[in-house]
Amino acid sequence: MTETRMEPLLSGFGNHFASEAVPGALPVGRNSPQRAPHGLYAELFSATAFTAPRAENRRSWLYRRQPSVVVGGYTPLALPLWKTGVASGASAAPDPLRWHPVPVPDTAEAPLDFIDGLRTVVVAGDADAQTGMSAHLVLINRSMTQRALVNADGEMLLLPQSGRFTVTTELGVLQASPGDVLLLPRGLAFKVAVDGPATAYVCENFGAAFRLPELGPIGSNGLANPRDFIAPAAAFDADAVDRPYQIVKKFGGEFWVAAQAHSPFNVVAWHGNLAPMKYDTRHFNTIGSISFDHPDPSIFTVLTSPSDTPGTANVDFVIFPPRWLVAEDTFRPPWFHRNLMSEFMGLVYGQYDAKPEGFRPGGASLHNSMVPHGPDAEAFERASNAALAPHKLDHTLAFMFESRWRMRPTAWALRPGAQDTQYAECWAGLRSHFQGQP
Ligand code: FE2
Repeated sequence: MTETRMEPLLSGFGNHFASEAVPGALPVGRNSPQRAPHGLYAELFSATAFTAPRAENRRSWLYRRQPSVVVGGYTPLALPLWKTGVASGASAAPDPLRWHPVPVPDTAEAPLDFIDGLRTVVVAGDADAQTGMSAHLVLINRSMTQRALVNADGEMLLLPQSGRFTVTTELGVLQASPGDVLLLPRGLAFKVAVDGPATAYVCENFGAAFRLPELGPIGSNGLANPRDFIAPAAAFDADAVDRPYQIVKKFGGEFWVAAQAHSPFNVVAWHGNLAPMKYDTRHFNTIGSISFDHPDPSIFTVLTSPSDTPGTANVDFVIFPPRWLVAEDTFRPPWFHRNLMSEFMGLVYGQYDAKPEGFRPGGASLHNSMVPHGPDAEAFERASNAALAPHKLDHTLAFMFESRWRMRPTAWALRPGAQDTQYAECWAGLRSHFQGQP
């Protein structure tokens, strides 16, 4: 893989970038000249309709050794643990659900790359209707070598939970570790390499592409700042022409596989605003109360995929990063609540303040639409009686995929032993303290 960086860092969410791994590979002043430079093929890669409004439009021009269309016939591939759409979910009672972390098996026991190791936990919406999302766990013990994945159903947001990830895409290479987020556009070919056992949470988004949320009265800075999103520089396989690849395509919830005589990672130069991006959550400018009450958790939104109802997201990606708690006369953990929105949560590392026990790194929880939840009895007692000095929640990263759509757990998620069956007991100690008289 050639990783020549010809220009400074490509940064800025949604920016228009230009990158070439070989000087002169990008045409100047036009996208599709009669002959593209260096004998390359020009190919347009669009994640939006051609006529999408300018602010929404995402597309890039790729200059590559052979176009993506050069691939053999696709045949079906069975990936029974990767589910799509609410209809593929199981029936589950409207209780809060919580899952134990899942260990990565030995390679000898089960060789798992990013594709084979993906397990869907919850499903929502419908990929063909371009609505909804899925939340997955990925257990990886080997790298993809001459195998690439193209997901035509949605973009994929990866949160490494353990291990180090090197993600090679058509547009270049990005590396990520726990604390980082990778956003991979719908339809982009990529492969994932790891340097040992690795796990990640994944949000597969079938709806509108993730974008930064509006800031309203917060102003022009804050939360995730655009400049902290990094795109890769153009890079390509030096031996791309003679390198057979297996291309796995996800298409309407089904999987297909084809042999290709060359590497899909043969893009020598590209320009445009559709690109994979990396974001380090340690750059999140966390905003909270400096008087009383904590704001709604929407204050922690990193990225949002809007739906057609204003303010009601197809899916929001929300983090609970390290932060100071300083509010006076305030119950500081998340309050008890129930909401229209469905909440899938995970813990990348550290401890989550509303559930100091039980919610473990690598685990997950689901609080579906209108399912009540809140701090456990221990957290409630402690927070109700704590001296309210400034306190820092540190070395922690929890996150939430929050959606307007009801989430159904999969049969895999409900398999014996997977769930924390004691979860509801964490609230059993919340007895009545009321001493008033009617
Ligand atoms: Fe909640």
